[in-house]
Amino acid sequence: MKDLPKQMLYVNDVFSNARDLGLIQVKAQQDEESSRKISIDGKSYISFMSNNYLAFENDERVKEAAIEGIRKYGMQTSISRMYMSFDHYLELEDKLEKIFGLPTFLASSTTLGHFAYLPVIIGRNDAIIMDQFVHESVQLAVSTLKADGYHVEMVKHSQMDMLERRIKMLSEKYDNIWYMADSVYSMHGDAAPMKDIETLLNTYDKFKAYIDDAHGMSWIGEHGKGYALHHIPRHEKMYVITSLNKGFGAFSSALVFPNKLTKQTVYNCGGALRFSAPTLHAGITAASCIADIHLSDEIYERQMRLNELITVFKQKSKELDLPIINYAHTPQFFLGLGSVELLIRFSQFLMSKDFLLSPSTVPAVPVKHSGFRISLSLYQTVNDVKNLLDLLAEYIEVLEKEGSFNKEQVLKGFKMRDKQRHLV
Ligand SMILES: Cc1ncc(COP(=O)(O)O)c(C=O)c1O
Repeated sequence: MKDLPKQMLYVNDVFSNARDLGLIQVKAQQDEESSRKISIDGKSYISFMSNNYLAFENDERVKEAAIEGIRKYGMQTSISRMYMSFDHYLELEDKLEKIFGLPTFLASSTTLGHFAYLPVIIGRNDAIIMDQFVHESVQLAVSTLKADGYHVEMVKHSQMDMLERRIKMLSEKYDNIWYMADSVYSMHGDAAPMKDIETLLNTYDKFKAYIDDAHGMSWIGEHGKGYALHHIPRHEKMYVITSLNKGFGAFSSALVFPNKLTKQTVYNCGGALRFSAPTLHAGITAASCIADIHLSDEIYERQMRLNELITVFKQKSKELDLPIINYAHTPQFFLGLGSVELLIRFSQFLMSKDFLLSPSTVPAVPVKHSGFRISLSLYQTVNDVKNLLDLLAEYIEVLEKEGSFNKEQVLKGFKMRDKQRHLV
C-alpha cells in the first residue's frame, strides 16, 4: 500500500485504536427492541445514534411497502431513468412535490444528487462560496468544478456579514455568486441563518443559494417539508437537495427545484443521473408509504413528540451545565470534550452504562474539537434522554475533579470557531 499522507496516517491510527477498544466499526445485531436499542456482542445499548428522527425505519407499514415493492417489481431494474421510469417512481415524485410544493426529482443518494445538480445549475462564469462546514459530499462535488477552473472559495462558518462582503466583491467579476450551505449542520446541529440568506437573495440579484437539507427533513415544517423550505417556502434563486434516508427513513434523495424548467434540464443533463442505476424498487415503495404519512396528520403528531424530546434535552442539559456546543432547536446536538483520549475514555464509560453515542473526531471535526454527536429520535423515551444527561453530568464531574477536563476552556475553543455572525 502507498505511504499515507500525514493527516490520513493520524486518522488511521486514531480509528485503529478506537476499533481495537471496541468503540467503532463494531459488529452489531438487531435488538429485540429494534432501533431504540442496538446489540453488540450480546449486550443491549440504548442508542442515540440514529438520524431517523421520526422513527420510520422499523414501522410495520414501511416494511410491508418495501416487501410489496420487491414482490411486484423485483430487486431492481437495471435501466437508466433517462430511458424510462416505472409508475411508482413518478407516483413518489408526485407525492414529494405535494410535500415540498415544488418540482422534485429523485436520485439514488444525496452525494450523487450533488454531482448531477451542481454542474447543470452553476455557470462557467459563476463563483462558488462554500460555508466552511458545508457537508463533505457538497465539497466533493464542488472540487470537481474547481478542478475544471471554476472560482471556489470558503467563508467562515455562518458569518453572514463576511459572506455579504464577498458577494459584493465577486459581483464585479462573476455572473452569479453561489452560497453552498447545510440547513442543519450534521456535526453540531446548528442551523443556517435562513432569514439572512433570504435577505441576501432578495438584495443581490446575482446571489443564489444551494442548500443541503439532509438533516432538516421531516421533523419540521408543513408535511415535514424540512428546515430550508419551512423558512423559505419558495425562492426563484434557492436550490434545495435533501436526503430520504435520514429523517425520512427510506432510501435515496430528492432534488427540489425552484421551477419545472430547471428540473427538466437537470433530468436531461445531470450526467450522474444518466449513468447511475435507479433507486431500488423496495426503497421507492417504502419512501412512497412514508410520503403518505408526511401528507397525513400523523406527521404533526410525530413532530410534536420529537419537539418534546428536544425541549427536555435542552432544558435539562442547561440545568446540568453540560458542555453542549449549540442549543439550536434541532434534533442534533454535540457534547464538546476536546481531546481524542478523553473521547475514548468517555465512550468506554457510557458503554459500561449501556448507552451508545456517536464519537466524533478527525476528519469530521478538528482533533482538538472531538466530542459526541447526540441524535434525538422517537426511538428514545423522555426517560432515556434524562438518564443519558445524568450520566454525562456524572462523568464530566469525575473528569473535572481529576483535572483532565476544563469546561470553560473547552467551550471557549468551540465557541470561537462556531460563532454565528449576522448581517449588519
Ligand atoms: C448534510 C449531508 N449531506 C449529504 C450526505 C450524504 O448523503 P448520502 O448518503 O445520501 O449520499 C450526508 C450524509 O451523512 C449529510 O449528512
